[in-house]
Amino acid sequence: MLGRLNHVAIAVPDLAVAIANYRDNLGASVSAPQKEPEHGVTVAFVELANTKIEFLEPLGDESPIAAFMERNPQGGIHHICYEVDDIFAARDHLKAQGARVLGSGEPKIGAHGKPVLFLHPKDFLGTLVELEQA
Ligand code: CO
Repeated sequence: MLGRLNHVAIAVPDLAVAIANYRDNLGASVSAPQKEPEHGVTVAFVELANTKIEFLEPLGDESPIAAFMERNPQGGIHHICYEVDDIFAARDHLKAQGARVLGSGEPKIGAHGKPVLFLHPKDFLGTLVELEQA
């Protein structure tokens, strides 16, 4: 079912500081920040040869990463995202296995313009998992 690792997301308190850190210290190429008001985050992507790192900064008062930032004020790894060939088939399989799909259970359009779902961290080794339609 699982395809490629699409990205690892790191929540950060200050996107400009995070971008400068990766750009200046690691020589990474980082995309321009992109506000995603419907997801409550501003994102920037570190482009790597085999995957991406997604920086997430809270946006607005109702950001879904606000609680994470309260527990981890300096930021930290927030989720990992795997590609799947068929997000609806993946969801139905996981639900049949008893895994919890967050939110309404219907895929939302994610930061890359593709449908995504999130799976409960308690069902996957304490890690929030995002599935993205390949
Ligand atoms: Co993500």
